[in-house]
Amino acid sequence: MTDLSEIKRLDETYLAQTYGRYPVAFEGGRGATLYGVDGREYVDFGAGIAVNIFGVNDPEWKDAVKAQLDKIQHVSNYYYSEPTVRLAELLCKKTGAKRVFFGNSGAEANECAFKAARKYSFMKYGAGRSDIVSLNGSFHGRTLFTLTATGQDAFHKYFDPFAGGVKYADANLASVKRAAGSACAVVIECVQGEGGVKELPAAFVKELAAFCKDNDILLICDEVQCGLGRTGKFFAYEHYGVLPDLVTVAKGLAGGLPIGGCLFYDKTKDVFAAGDHGSTFGGNPVACAGGISVVSRLTDEFLLEVQGKAAYMRAKLKGFDGVKDVTGMGLMIGIHTGRSAKEVAQKCLERGVLVLTAHDVVRLLPPLNITKNEMDEGLSVLKEVLK
Ligand SMILES: Cc1ncc(COP(=O)(O)O)c(C=O)c1O
Repeated sequence: MTDLSEIKRLDETYLAQTYGRYPVAFEGGRGATLYGVDGREYVDFGAGIAVNIFGVNDPEWKDAVKAQLDKIQHVSNYYYSEPTVRLAELLCKKTGAKRVFFGNSGAEANECAFKAARKYSFMKYGAGRSDIVSLNGSFHGRTLFTLTATGQDAFHKYFDPFAGGVKYADANLASVKRAAGSACAVVIECVQGEGGVKELPAAFVKELAAFCKDNDILLICDEVQCGLGRTGKFFAYEHYGVLPDLVTVAKGLAGGLPIGGCLFYDKTKDVFAAGDHGSTFGGNPVACAGGISVVSRLTDEFLLEVQGKAAYMRAKLKGFDGVKDVTGMGLMIGIHTGRSAKEVAQKCLERGVLVLTAHDVVRLLPPLNITKNEMDEGLSVLKEVLK
């Protein structure tokens, strides 16, 4: 087995140095418990940033993926593919969406939604009504356009000039109205993840949905981080009683294989025609077989369990010394401590617990099937560290 120092040396020598990594490498695990190459076990409160919904080494998911691998690993989008259409059908039946476009990542899912919104508006109103309104504090991806649509200057440094066509607003209707003069769409994350685990105010989201509807401006919900059961509902927008026109998903959709999806609802379902959009790997049958295994298990019963786990973790965290506030929804948990979140994460790691950060917030996104023992183990370390 290669030890950490050699892996680290190879990383520093051969990989673009785009990540600030913690000093640990993993070689296996089960559920929310990961095995380090150092021989230690770690409780995983990060799930590969909301990807490993059913943890690692999930037997049901592995069987589904392996069965597909034994058949065929890729077909081009010139041809039909059963796992692809089955996953799309499942997503539509679960959510009320009418069609799905598959890509490979969250950024690509958002690119697709933005293109769809622009075409919808162009076909109805002609050129000039093409702005995407995005909220300050949002995160929508790292491609040049989704980076533009990310309402955080910290991510913009060095990468000018941007594509244009994005207006920024605060999370209140007056601000959105000021930005929406030439808008075809408003994009929101119901719970901003990278921005600091902030749930949008319920009244604002309701007013926004009504404003968008009245003005035929499309409402795009970026559910890349907060979707797929993470908040205790299939999609986070369901907590708000609103209906979006486009929804984007990625991260955990295929249980750990690259995938992204843009879901088209009633208004937008026929916006694209052949040739408008595409992706070589989009709808890959192996990724989609993994996706069927994940999505088919996000049942109402399972989501109730997620709500129970979330209530348990939140109640415990609120009682810990050093915790000023606990934000987010469900198992998308932001812990506000007034201390450096990075330092907290480092101390947790030393004690065998993986947590994430978002600015000055300690962020927890555990696998949704995390066990009571794993929760208790991780929470007892957090309690010590935060005290
Ligand atoms: C809300 C949101 N949108 C989009 C993205 C981009 O996803 P990806 O990294 O798969 O491109 C992320 C990634 O963290 C995200 O949290």
